[in-house]
Amino acid sequence: MTESTEVYGEHLAEFQKTAYIKGMDEYQKLYKQSVEDPEGFWAQQAEKYLSWEKKWDQVLDYDFTEARISWFSGGVLNASYNCLDRHLDTIADKIAYYWEGDNPEETKAVTYKDLYTRVNRFAAVLKNNGVKKGDRVIIYMPMIVELPVSLLACARIGAIHSVVFGGFSADAIANRIKDCGAKVVITADGGYRGGKPVSLKDNVDKAMEKCPDVETVIVVNRTDSGIPLKPGKEVWWHEEEEKTAADTFVAPEPMDAEDPLFILYTSGSTGKPKGVVHTHAGYLLYTAITTRLVFDLKDDEVFWCTADIGWITGHSYIVYGPLCCGLTGVMFEGVPNYPDFDRFWAIVEKYRINKFYTAPTAIRALAREGESHVEKHDLSSLSLLGTVGEPINPEAWRWYYKNVGKSRCPIIDTWWQTETGGHMLTPLPGVAPVKPGSCSFPFFGVDPVILDDTGEPVKFPDEEGLLCIRKPWPAMARTVYGDHERFRETYFSQVPGMYFTGDAAKKDADGYYWIIGRIDDVINVSGHRLGTAELESALVLHPSVAEAAVVGFPHPIKGQGIYAFVILKANATASDALKKELVGQVRNEIGPIATLDIVQFTDGLPKTRSGKIMRRILKKISAGKLDELGDTSTIADESVIDKLVENRVNIE
Ligand code: PRX
Repeated sequence: MTESTEVYGEHLAEFQKTAYIKGMDEYQKLYKQSVEDPEGFWAQQAEKYLSWEKKWDQVLDYDFTEARISWFSGGVLNASYNCLDRHLDTIADKIAYYWEGDNPEETKAVTYKDLYTRVNRFAAVLKNNGVKKGDRVIIYMPMIVELPVSLLACARIGAIHSVVFGGFSADAIANRIKDCGAKVVITADGGYRGGKPVSLKDNVDKAMEKCPDVETVIVVNRTDSGIPLKPGKEVWWHEEEEKTAADTFVAPEPMDAEDPLFILYTSGSTGKPKGVVHTHAGYLLYTAITTRLVFDLKDDEVFWCTADIGWITGHSYIVYGPLCCGLTGVMFEGVPNYPDFDRFWAIVEKYRINKFYTAPTAIRALAREGESHVEKHDLSSLSLLGTVGEPINPEAWRWYYKNVGKSRCPIIDTWWQTETGGHMLTPLPGVAPVKPGSCSFPFFGVDPVILDDTGEPVKFPDEEGLLCIRKPWPAMARTVYGDHERFRETYFSQVPGMYFTGDAAKKDADGYYWIIGRIDDVINVSGHRLGTAELESALVLHPSVAEAAVVGFPHPIKGQGIYAFVILKANATASDALKKELVGQVRNEIGPIATLDIVQFTDGLPKTRSGKIMRRILKKISAGKLDELGDTSTIADESVIDKLVENRVNIE
């Protein structure tokens, strides 16, 4: 069976009874309207999904040459108001989050009223600590309720949050603090993972040594570690909260539609990570509508997105989208294999989860442990399964479909990026059959095109090319914090007049899109983006390293693994101990998510005569595709290749 003929539509009849979008005709009609009259379409959605303090003057104004995009300009609203205050009359006692601790015995049910109360009190704490509209706040926290509270409290007072994933290092925190000029950091003493407390504050302490301008560090006591705080600069969250009255009200700051809501750092093919900026109105609208329609979430359903809030998936589909829609979500502090490999399925059963959203890497890791973990649990509440972050291989897809979804739940494979804010290419459950490995069709308002090497749209089905987007959509990033030119150059200069995604894709004869993967030097490790340039910079900081080249290679669980080719300085000696040191070096610089899988010492790298490293060849060597090295005649010294091949390391 070829990829494009394997289709699964068992779920359709059921979904077409109740889905918001019923069938292909309805999808196509709405889609046509959304791309032919984006202003009309999005104005209607903005009325439906958001509450405005003042309506906009103009729906859309943009110029892709200048990378200038503006949605709903003149409009005034507040994201925290939309996620909380406006729900109080109707759903104050509804659960916003079922919070599940790393320890299965530790759980909390947080209602919309509870969340509202906590956000108001913490907004007051931020104000008491001098945080004002427009200030940047760095958040480095485990998956505890204080995390969404922090995001919403920032949004409430108009401060711009920037969450740094807990798996990043002290240096990564320091770089982000410096880049955005944050004065306040919110963190916790630690968190729990797999039954053990993990310190977080240590990393913040180290970062602080490099960031003298930070005025306040607010620390949640999560692990009762008893760590001392530095007087003057560091304060306990609970002590600050106690200084505010239980019924504290902080009026939501009136925000312009285009005011920044948050910055999220993401890796690119060059240089240091970029601070991608999202806005109050467009981002909120788009995450709300995609939450509703892509997962077809009804008001009485329970949704679980397993991502960490430190990534865009968590921002959009744990915090802003679901809360804006007034839905019930699950937040999980722990890991999929603690206490055992059935943890995800135990949680699905416990909260009777209806719609479940995770990453291919998690599916592969769990599939490897066998079906028995899934079979232990009653998963009959599930009706839809989502995936995100990297291409899902058909084997993992089928395992997920059959064992978790019992061949009745569609797999909703959502393709999108930190920069796109929300889903771009995705199936809708009531519209059409799904195909393993395909992300189906564009969401409303998304106008994709696949370009060939000459910049022309591809002419034939299944022809691979570069995926670009021709028109703006509300949740697209607006700039790179502090460097608009970098934003313009990265996303709008490669193909003039279009948004450049960095991904290759193809469209089959039925109109289904298939993502091939990144065409640039970005590695996707377990759905997380790492730039080869940042990995190489981290390696060459080691005193023994003269030069390094890093590529991604196919990895059975992570999707892509990290393969580093390293040239040592003349006085250094290759050894296993040195390999370990280098792995540690990169983990220290970037964080544990950047763990090198393979280090190969070498005397030379394949370079062109002008000195450019030929990564194409290194990628083939790392993948073991030795008969596909292609034309090597432009290499300055061809003998390098033989040595690299001879010493190639296989993953254990
Ligand atoms: O290569 C694509 C891949 O992940 C990249 C975006 O990474 P990031 O900004 O970290 O956001 C991840 C979560 C939205 C994309 O350029 N990617 C994401 N989703 C998919 C995917 N590749 C294939 N299929 C997907 N569903």
